[in-house]
Amino acid sequence: MCSNCGTDAAKWMGKCPSCGQWNTFSEQRIARGSGHGNSSKPASPNRPLKLAEVDTDQVTRIDLRNAEFNRVLGGGLVPGALVLLGGEPGIGKSTLALQIALQLQLPSLYISGEESPQQIKLRAGRLEAAEDHCSILPETNLQSILQQADHLKPGLLIVDSIQTLWSDENESAPGTVSQVRDCAARLLKLAKESHIPVLLIGHITKEGHIAGPKVLEHIVDTVLQFEGDSHHLYRILRASKNRFGSTSEIGVFEMTGRGLREIPNPSELLINQHGEGLSGSAVAAHLEGARPLLIEVQALVSPAVYGTPQRTSTGFDMRRLSMLLAVLEKRAGFKLAAKDVFINIAGGIRVDDPAIDMAVVAAILSSTVDIAIEKQACFAGELGLSGEIRPVNRIEQRIAEAGKLGLERIYLPSANMKGLPPLKNALEICELKRIQDLPKALFG
Ligand code: TYD
Ligand code: MG
Repeated sequence: MCSNCGTDAAKWMGKCPSCGQWNTFSEQRIARGSGHGNSSKPASPNRPLKLAEVDTDQVTRIDLRNAEFNRVLGGGLVPGALVLLGGEPGIGKSTLALQIALQLQLPSLYISGEESPQQIKLRAGRLEAAEDHCSILPETNLQSILQQADHLKPGLLIVDSIQTLWSDENESAPGTVSQVRDCAARLLKLAKESHIPVLLIGHITKEGHIAGPKVLEHIVDTVLQFEGDSHHLYRILRASKNRFGSTSEIGVFEMTGRGLREIPNPSELLINQHGEGLSGSAVAAHLEGARPLLIEVQALVSPAVYGTPQRTSTGFDMRRLSMLLAVLEKRAGFKLAAKDVFINIAGGIRVDDPAIDMAVVAAILSSTVDIAIEKQACFAGELGLSGEIRPVNRIEQRIAEAGKLGLERIYLPSANMKGLPPLKNALEICELKRIQDLPKALFG
């Protein structure tokens, strides 16, 4: 069976004929009849309905009492939804799930296949939340879980993790493609029939995909990714698939000694708040999904000590950095070929919004001439190969975020200014057409 797409074949193959991946086939023992146990007839046969006849009254979303999580889900959890939460080991998936279970006003059932109730109790103690409504069940057998869920009828079922479950109807080892697929399909049936929302925690592979078959992601209603560098404090929750909302919202958390803290206004933390201006630092008005964030870009430019200059970037694409340096060299006349250039996005965040280009360039310029950029300025704009500053999307949101944080000036592409409605805040706007104009605008 192919671990990427779930295709089965009677013999081992090097390349999957269905998805074209190499070395993804592994042998799976499948019991007779498995996979069919979950295709039993529904209790009441369905009939076609007009959309207008579909009753939506019972869809009231469950408030998870966690604003960031609610936002990512599209305004709360839909009853009967099957949600998959994936992320690297140690990122805080179990912590987040337990916190949700403890805060919820409804009774919840937390199935743990990885930790003992004692470990969970210890963790719950650190989270300092009331635990009246949450029951813990250390179990990995699917049938026992279904039985308990049927008995308790919880308002939320959490399974930590889907890779530890095994079903009686399947002889494969837990975590294998067919086990994961069968268990997820059975839990989906539970969610849809009983309207219990189910939160599955899933491991990810070293490539960053959710371990197990791709079908897992097709089965569930929502796929959430919990990411962030485990050495940094910030964690970003984003939806990569959502049948009940948009996938452009993100939630930001901070890992503290008392669990994950919601961060309603992340920009405040991501930009340097201390007084004096330091050279080589610029604030970008960045969009993470649909959410505006102000982040600090830091650059260090110094004469190369060894023959080949080093270019290193953390949180920003290396090839993009090389391109920006080439444009600076050719179009703005800055001699950077013999300099080491280091770029760092503060807070351990990874960005791939092209609008951050202008802040990166400004930070590099500031470090090169060793003059600080005024503290109250921020940047948004994409740099083109001929040195032109290209327009960026959702400019109004970026401006609004900068205004909210009390910044005074924003540097924007001129092309964005057409049709921009009058501003509500007292932000000064500096328009830029070409990269050549930037040094003059910044340092006079
Ligand atoms: P965990 O939630 O078990 O991660 P996952 O389930 O994704 O593998 O643990 C996340 C890490 O967070 C763990 O290494 C310890 C740390 N942590 C804190 O810093 N503060 C806390 O209050 C808790 C509960 C965990
Ligand atoms: Mg865990």
